[in-house]
Amino acid sequence: MQPIAFVTGADRGLGFALCEGLLARGWRVFGGRYMPDWPDLAALAERFPEMLHAVPLDVTSVESTRAAARAVAGMAERVDLLINNAGVISPAVERAVGEGLDYPEAHREFDVNALGALRVVEAFLPLTDRGKMKRLCFVSSEAGSITRCERQAWYGYCMSKAALNMAIKITFNRLRPEGYTFRVYHPGWMRSYMHGSKNMEADLEPEAAAAMALHFFLEEREDEDDLALIDYQGQAWPW
Ligand SMILES: NC(=O)c1ccc[n+]([C@@H]2O[C@H](COP(=O)([O-])OP(=O)(O)OC[C@H]3O[C@@H](n4cnc5c(N)ncnc54)[C@H](OP(=O)(O)O)[C@@H]3O)[C@@H](O)[C@H]2O)c1
Repeated sequence: MQPIAFVTGADRGLGFALCEGLLARGWRVFGGRYMPDWPDLAALAERFPEMLHAVPLDVTSVESTRAAARAVAGMAERVDLLINNAGVISPAVERAVGEGLDYPEAHREFDVNALGALRVVEAFLPLTDRGKMKRLCFVSSEAGSITRCERQAWYGYCMSKAALNMAIKITFNRLRPEGYTFRVYHPGWMRSYMHGSKNMEADLEPEAAAAMALHFFLEEREDEDDLALIDYQGQAWPW
């Protein structure tokens, strides 16, 4: 039976590379499409007819997440693997306290990065409940670690990832007893598009980052009852 995944933020960056990686492994993939003018996902879908489906998705909207789940339910009876990847960072991320923090931008980061994943999990629950794997994956960040935080700025982004981690923990408490398994992940510093254009100063191409992420998302772990934030080198980060 062909396994089925849903990936949010699939237009470019890590999300797109995760779709490519899953397709190469024989998965049927539904990719959340947020950027209708960005052509890569549609081009990939043409290369993988019946295996990749682009589904409109804005994770800040309950209506959009529900519509995306309905669209998937019209084509598939279940989702085995749900990858919450969509994320944003504010252009004003470098501002420190006293430099005029951008509160509307911080709201946007919180809305996409923390609440967005929750909206998706809720909307897709009927589909993941029927999944064979029942695995919920979350692309978080080292930036969400309070214990190891040394930054003097990046408020909205770091706060949103810490909030995401808490949202995951509460969801874990509720769904782990129902057989769900969880992956919380820091993918490394990637040459992706978070700052608007491809960041060539970063360490990892999204394809390489996706290969490491998929290894972690798909592998079996010995202790599924131990929720941990794991990075691309396999190291655990303190919350
Ligand atoms: N880049 C890094 O070094 C790094 C490090 C640690 C963690 N991460 C995390 O990795 C994940 C993937 O990021 P990336 O680096 O691949 O960034 P990216 O290239 O910007 O890809 C993220 C995708 O999500 C989309 N998106 C934005 N708002 C959305 C919304 N409301 N609904 C649905 N999709 C939306 C983005 O569209 P727009 O381009 O229009 O915003 C973009 O297509 C994020 O969760 C990020 O926080 C990244």
